[in-house]
Amino acid sequence: MNPVLEIVAVCKKFSGVVALDDLKFTIEEGEMRGLVGANGAGKTTLLNVIGGQVMADSGIVRIAGLDVAKFSPWRRAGLGLGRTFQESRMWADLTTAEHFGIAIDASRRIAGRAAPNHAVDDICSLVELPKVMLERMPAQMRLLDRRRVELAMATLNASNLLLIDEIGAGLDVEEARMLYRLIARLIDRRCVRAAILVEHKLELLAAFATGISLIENGKASQHADCKDAARLALLMSSMFGHRSDAAAEVLQQRKGLQ
Ligand SMILES: Nc1ncnc2c1ncn2[C@@H]1O[C@H](COP(=O)(O)OP(=O)(O)OP(=O)(O)O)[C@@H](O)[C@H]1O
Ligand SMILES: [Mg+2]
Repeated sequence: MNPVLEIVAVCKKFSGVVALDDLKFTIEEGEMRGLVGANGAGKTTLLNVIGGQVMADSGIVRIAGLDVAKFSPWRRAGLGLGRTFQESRMWADLTTAEHFGIAIDASRRIAGRAAPNHAVDDICSLVELPKVMLERMPAQMRLLDRRRVELAMATLNASNLLLIDEIGAGLDVEEARMLYRLIARLIDRRCVRAAILVEHKLELLAAFATGISLIENGKASQHADCKDAARLALLMSSMFGHRSDAAAEVLQQRKGLQ
């Protein structure tokens, strides 16, 4: 079977700034892959190049075997691609139920007659959102529940690949852990074939992801399987540089989160 995602020799510059540099990257079915790296390393640009919000200057982006590098975001969504963004993107004057209505409508338009029938109750249980939230607007909800709504909306259309950008930002570790458990469960239940998650809280990725890739200067410079503690420690050590004890700390915290 084709990999869920294959990226070959992708380059992207923004007026002289190299954001992605000859990047190579593959995601297989069942993977929950973390992306880590310093600010400005190219993580969000990579998600944008996959989702079509940014077009690569060169290279191949294949989703389920099809080269989508020239496809619009809408056309890529038709291949089962869902996305959450670094900044919350809920509409201030719409309730959660109205958000779900829009997402259901969009997934029907995208998938046509093949669209599954989504019931709002099922969507709430998918992300463990209390039903009382359905009538609330974003300002009346805590960030954790807003993130649940965004995750649910992205998942409705993510039969192939879910792209998640810093969903844990602004949450405490316990709250972020709840979201990570939900995402792992979505993959286990095959609601989505695979997920890519940009995250700065390394202990969360070490606890829940199947693997972690380090992005440095627009390249995927290292990869570690999360079952391989020695490799994981190595990847983290090269991230933390001078702080040689930091990797051990992260691996210790990981145990408490699992
Ligand atoms: N639309 C844009 N226009 C100009 N430069 C951009 C644009 N998007 C990204 N860049 C630049 O590309 C590089 C990579 O940015 P990117 O947002 O992908 O980093 P990141 O790894 O997601 O960082 P962070 O952890 O801070 O979110 C940075 O130098 C950034 O300033
Ligand atoms: Mg980013």
